[in-house]
Parts: sequence; structure tokens; C-alpha cells
Amino acid sequence: MIRKDFLPFSRPEVSDEEVKAAAAVLRSGWWTTGPKVTEFEDKIVDYLKGPEQLYAVGLNSCTAGLHLSLEALGIGPGDEVIVPTWTFAATAQVVDWVGAKLVLCDVEEDSLNIDLEKASRLVTSRTKAIIPVHIAGYPCDIDGINKLAQRHGLKVIEDAAHAIGTRYFGKKIGNFSDVAVFSFYATKNLAMGEGGLVVSRNKDLIESIRKKSYFGINKQAFKRYGKTGNWFYDIEEKGYKYNLDSLHAAIGLVQLKKLDRMLAKRRKLAAFYRKELDGLAGFTKDSDEHFHNYHLFMIKTGSSGQERDSLIIELKKRNIGTSVHYIPLHMHSYYKKRFCAGDFPVANKIFNEILSIPMFSSMTVKDAGYVTGHLKELLRG
Ligand SMILES: Cc1ncc(COP(=O)(O)O)c(C=O)c1O
Repeated sequence: MIRKDFLPFSRPEVSDEEVKAAAAVLRSGWWTTGPKVTEFEDKIVDYLKGPEQLYAVGLNSCTAGLHLSLEALGIGPGDEVIVPTWTFAATAQVVDWVGAKLVLCDVEEDSLNIDLEKASRLVTSRTKAIIPVHIAGYPCDIDGINKLAQRHGLKVIEDAAHAIGTRYFGKKIGNFSDVAVFSFYATKNLAMGEGGLVVSRNKDLIESIRKKSYFGINKQAFKRYGKTGNWFYDIEEKGYKYNLDSLHAAIGLVQLKKLDRMLAKRRKLAAFYRKELDGLAGFTKDSDEHFHNYHLFMIKTGSSGQERDSLIIELKKRNIGTSVHYIPLHMHSYYKKRFCAGDFPVANKIFNEILSIPMFSSMTVKDAGYVTGHLKELLRG
């Protein structure tokens, strides 16, 4: 039986609560950055809480956070930044934006996260930073990355776009390196449409990013237009227009309240997928020490690219949405000229096998059973 409605690979979980929260902001008369954003930043810090105090700044995207982190850490022309080839455009484009040299690195076959051994061979005297990505919500070997960084004096900017709620040896991502940057884009575990946040143990760094996120101005609008505010402001440095607004923050606050429940649901669906597809597909790792938040559920079909592509078509005919995360960066025309495909053997191989199947918290186990039923039929041929 083919279901009537299309099961997408991702969909945000929405209730009346988000609608009410957004409506309340609309009626409040204060739509841009203000107390709702501060409340969101404080509550995220609370959620991520580890042994040391964290500080956070909300932004309009994770991309903005990666860009400002590089700038605030003083990375620029003449510097090199190591980025895994297995990621979204954002992780690499920001390196171009600050005028540094992008150095792409291959990934580990069983996690799709940066291969530290290979990364250590890419370090030169000009390397200033590394941007590991917790792909699909599975944590990188962050201790190993920090050790490599300490050995060579590198800054670590974690691209935690997928990793809200992900834990590494019991501690949530956000507590480990110089900065971690989350995304709250529409498909993410905590979704607000567009949005991002930078977290760090370094308060000065966060305040510097905050200032850069609003034209380098020393005071945001709420502090100027409110009753207790003062009209005067000063542009102290170059900045951007990356601030988070109250509407998105209000939606984020509701999503944050239900994040752990939504995360548990993703893990339940993942356990079901693993059990049902065992022996038919490969999976990335998961363990108590490396606690996966299952932002994405990726399977390795073990087939050639062409077979994977026909699987996508067959699943679509059965009303099942899929996606491919990611086309490795070195395969895109913009980067092909700069990199040699032979330097990324693992990414080249896995790219032909990988498929993201439906995974979102409002999906039912019955939906997942529909997916595995068809996958089993198709994979067994
Ligand atoms: C790995 C990764 N990094 C960065 C980003 C950028 O996030 P945003 O859309 O919030 O800028 C994404 C977006 O999907 C992503 O998947």
C-alpha cells in the first residue's frame, strides 16, 4: 500500500504554543532584538549548563555566528582554517568571507566527522583555526580536536549547527572549545525558521560578537528606544546586521521547553530504524559517551551512486522524502579548482552510499515502519 500523503525527510514540530508566543510578540509592539532574545540566550545557557559558566549571543543564523566567531578570534588574510569537506556550504564560505585560506580535510568513515589524523597532517605554520562539524548530531572527538589545537595554538570553532542536545561523555556540546555555534534553521531539532546562537566560556568574546552582530554599535535598539533608554549610540567598529529578533526568539523559547522530549522521540525512532534495518544498511556510531541527537538519520546503502539515486526515486514514488547530506565541498564547481579529489578518498566513497531518511519528532513509529517496510523491499531487491 502506498500512503496518500508525502512523508518529508524533515518537518518542524509545531503546536498552538508557538503560534501564541509569536502572536504575543506581534501584539507587544517590540519585534526586533529585546528582552525575548535575552531570555532565549539565558535559557539556552541554562539548558547547556556544564561545570563552567557559559555566555551566549543569539543571531539570525548559524552562518552569521561562524562568520563573527572567525572575525572576533582575529582570523583573516594570511591565515589558514581547516574544515571537513563533509559539511554544508556555510562552514567553508565564512572562511572566504574573512579572507583566510580554506583547507579541506577528509572525514572518518564511521562518523563522517573530521578525520583528526588527516587534519593534523594539514596543519602548517599559517593554520590558525579548525572548524569541526558534529555531522547529523553525532559528536566529534572533541578532546582529540582540543589536544591538536593546543599543540599548534589553534582556535576551535565548533560548527554545532546539528548538535543542540548532543552530548560528549555526558556534557552537552557547547562546553568544550573556544566557541560553539548552533543553528535553529527550520529543519533543526530546535527550529525557529531562521536563527542561530554562539556560546562560549569567554564573556568578552561573546560581547565582541554581540557588538559585531549589530554594525559595531555599542548599544542595541531596545536600549535606545525604551522608556529608560537614551537615543545616543556610537559605531565603534566594522559590524554586520546579524541580530536575532524577538519573533524568532519567542518561537525558540517554546521549542526549547520541549527539546528534550523531541530529542527522546528522535532517539526512539532511530532505535527502531537501527533494529529494522540492521544488516541492510550501515549507520553512523552512537553510544552513551557519544550521545547522538539524531538531527539526521543517515543510512549507508552500500550501493553505487546510481543505485542510491534510483532508491531515492523509488522511495519518492512511495511518498517517502529523502535527502543527501552532503555533497562533499570539494565536489562543487566553486571548490573543484582549489582542491584535488584524490585527497578525500573516504568522502568520495561514502558520498555514493549515503541517504538521509525521514527523521523528525512529530513522526510516528508507524511512519518509520512504513519507511523501513519499503526500504527492506527495495534494498533486498
Ligand atoms: C553543518 C551546517 N553548518 C552551518 C549551517 C548554517 O546554518 P544556518 O542556516 O542557521 O546559517 C548549516 C545549515 O543547515 C549546516 O547544516
